[in-house]
Amino acid sequence: MKAFSIFSLIVVSAVLINPASASAAQLHKPAIIGGSAGSIDNSPWQVFIVMRGTSQCSGSLVSPTMVVTAAHCLVGYAANDIRVWAGISKTSERSLTQEMPVASTNANPSFDVRTFSNDIGVITLGKPVDITGKVYPIALPFGVTPSTWPAAGTAGTISGWGVTSPSNAATSDQLMRAEVSVLAGPAEPCGQYGPDLDPAQDVCAGSPVGAVDACQGDSGGPLVIQGTVPILAGLVSSGNECAKAGYPGLYTRITSFLPWLQQQGSIATAAPEAPTELVATNLGSRVGVTWKAPSNTGSASTIWTVTAAPSGQMCVTASTTCEFDELPSGQELSFTVAGKNSFGTGPVASISPQFSSVTKIRKLGAVIPVKRIASWAGITSQAKLVTISESPRICSVKATDVVLKKRGACVVSLSRGKISHHVAIAVV
Ligand code: ARG
Repeated sequence: MKAFSIFSLIVVSAVLINPASASAAQLHKPAIIGGSAGSIDNSPWQVFIVMRGTSQCSGSLVSPTMVVTAAHCLVGYAANDIRVWAGISKTSERSLTQEMPVASTNANPSFDVRTFSNDIGVITLGKPVDITGKVYPIALPFGVTPSTWPAAGTAGTISGWGVTSPSNAATSDQLMRAEVSVLAGPAEPCGQYGPDLDPAQDVCAGSPVGAVDACQGDSGGPLVIQGTVPILAGLVSSGNECAKAGYPGLYTRITSFLPWLQQQGSIATAAPEAPTELVATNLGSRVGVTWKAPSNTGSASTIWTVTAAPSGQMCVTASTTCEFDELPSGQELSFTVAGKNSFGTGPVASISPQFSSVTKIRKLGAVIPVKRIASWAGITSQAKLVTISESPRICSVKATDVVLKKRGACVVSLSRGKISHHVAIAVV
């Protein structure tokens, strides 16, 4: 990208955090610029970033461990100069929330401080965020056509804790948001910026008449476009002053950096596929369900919901295993597993564990080889005897035999692989 010749882009890499900005009066001022009070509940991917205790930026979670921000927020700082908070609407709530440890930072090596081209970087967190209603990654624009998306006229949302007036250096305690319009498509010129602005580098967004814009302190924050899910389309990068008619905000165009972002770590590219290798294991009165995550989900980006039928019991987890207690007995059970990530919910996979319930009638005192009981359960290959459950006084194991000691019901549980089989023997 060439340098701007006619005018110079005014960019301030960051802005001082003003502690006085937490005043109540601040909350009623318009902000970002031309916006209104927002909430982290509507922007749960947004994180607050402080550099060396004095400057601020925003970023967006694109996985539980990866924050995308502007390169100009990272250059000149070491990883331990940078602090990140997730899940807050007000910067003054920082002490109430868990600060996320920063493992490393990586500004795009092609970032040019003169032209602000390639203004993108990532912060890798030292541990994954806990996914909540206030902390949730955003989808990257993998499903779109980069040569046409986002088209001029598309509505977008910006948010940040930056200054709320071009003439006031105080940043906002409250997260502010504003609706903007994409003002130029990916190959079209932007406002009065002229031919030197490379549209492949930046999404041009704001209002044709000015007055609504991001500004100092909002850098690195998200420009979100609503598709079937919210999509990160751009990062607050630069602009000629703020909210000036003819000079919209310039947002690092995410579609131009998807391959680079994928090199920085595991990120989801689509809604999760159905899980595979579902196994339901009977653990006495409990059932353990395990599965394998499909490969397109990005590491740990998927939250799984397992539902037991007919009881309707549910288990929600980021891992790939769930345990169910107190399932109703005497009913055929089935379990469904579906993953959800920032792209949406994937297809459901289900399993009805083959808990065989064979009933045989045998006389008191009989000695039955475990092998035969296994064959009643349909197990012909080697079976491992696990337990004689629920009826320890009715029958007992002696070497490789089961001895029927009392009248009643003897239940023998056998396992082959991870599936359990139960054989009930009526002792008469
Ligand atoms: N560089 C600024 C920052 O570090 C963001 C500037 C955005 N300007 C604009 N007119 N949208 O906070």
